[in-house]
Amino acid sequence: MEQKGRNTVKVLIVGSGGREHAIAWKTAQSSRVDKIYCAPGNAGIAQIAECVDIGAMEFEKLVSFAKEKEVDLTIIGMDDPLVGGVVDAFEKEGLRVFGPRKNAAILEGSKAFSKDLMKKYNIPTAAYETFEDAQDALAYLETAKFPIVLKADGLALGKGVLICNTLEEAKKGVQSIMLDKQFGSAGNRMVIEEFMTGREVSVLSFVDGKTIQTMTSAQDHKRAKDGDQGLNTGGMGTFSPSPFYTEEVDEFCREYIYQATVDAMAAEGRPFTGIIFFGLMLTEQGPRVLEYNARFGDPEAQVVLPRMKNDIVEVIEACIDGKLDTIDLQFEDNAAVCVVLASAGYPEKYEKGFVIEGLERFDGQDGYYVFHAGTKQTEKGIVTNGGRILGVTAKGADLKEARANAYKAADWIDFENKYLRSDIGKAIDEA
Ligand code: AMP
Ligand code: GLY
Repeated sequence: MEQKGRNTVKVLIVGSGGREHAIAWKTAQSSRVDKIYCAPGNAGIAQIAECVDIGAMEFEKLVSFAKEKEVDLTIIGMDDPLVGGVVDAFEKEGLRVFGPRKNAAILEGSKAFSKDLMKKYNIPTAAYETFEDAQDALAYLETAKFPIVLKADGLALGKGVLICNTLEEAKKGVQSIMLDKQFGSAGNRMVIEEFMTGREVSVLSFVDGKTIQTMTSAQDHKRAKDGDQGLNTGGMGTFSPSPFYTEEVDEFCREYIYQATVDAMAAEGRPFTGIIFFGLMLTEQGPRVLEYNARFGDPEAQVVLPRMKNDIVEVIEACIDGKLDTIDLQFEDNAAVCVVLASAGYPEKYEKGFVIEGLERFDGQDGYYVFHAGTKQTEKGIVTNGGRILGVTAKGADLKEARANAYKAADWIDFENKYLRSDIGKAIDEA
């Protein structure tokens, strides 16, 4: 498709979390963009985009909307629509869309697929077995070493991974994944894999089918409570860059993981265009892939995008056009920390509907950002409307300064039942 002039691109972003707010904020910086829509969006995104009440899984409505409004570029933020084939639905109608097709989004959509891919192409990852039958899985456990890791094959809102310390626990895990179907059809198959130890790092990348360019590294904090205690969540905070992602680690990953993954997908007839998120573990034997995601991480996007120097629309268009090799991807030489403000009780039971105070404190504050996740505009003002409410991000010259700034800014916000971890980025002190 021919490229239009500057300031004429209309963008639609699909999703409603902090990640999509960060993408929308970055898109709004683009000199090429004159209109942003978001489906369905949230109260924060509504301040920079026109939110439309279409769900991320309503492909037909999304496609009709994009046609009707003459949207030039649609960016898919979330995993579910990607795995469900939203990109194929847009492409079928000749619409430009950023994200992997269904046959490539399987990289995230099926753990068995991604493990088999890594095995076939010698990409370093934990040893594993795949099971389609619960009895076979149970029999395998009898001779296995513990701890061991059980993974539901399909998407399970980030909750389909169980680390089991004993045979008893593992048997219960197989029962709940494969027989009780705790994660629905995601548990029709499962992967059982070797337990690894080491630091975790998230590396996001832009991919155009053949070329890959990695972004700056980040680290997530998945557990609900300080000291990595409590239940797994969608992420309670992030920092970027990771001081543990050294040049040596980067070199290893470039040689054995990044391009190898993109080449493997192409060789399988599943060329990947979009974002590949590499969940890595830095083990004593070297970096290993824990998982792939087919989209930006959340809250990783909330620390990575504020540090990106490029115009995101230019990078995305280069990906779609297969010209990523012409882009000089650059990040600021600083650091960012994101502290998630959640509702007490998250990720289990929590209340909604409390007025959020202090959002205006971020206006005009360079290097401070408040990305909305679970918020809603009401007559009373913006209120809490989910488990994760806001991501408060701050930059600093280094990680320590960024962390101090992020915690200072987290204090600007107040709402009933506000909950946050107090140790986001604590690992920085050990670096
Ligand atoms: P995943 O959704 O595959 O990233 O798994 C969620 C979390 O489970 C990861 O971030 C790790 O903390 C942990 N995990 C996954 N696989 C392993 C493994 N093989 N060994 C140790 N921890 C793991
Ligand atoms: N923060 C982890 C994820 O987005 O999957």
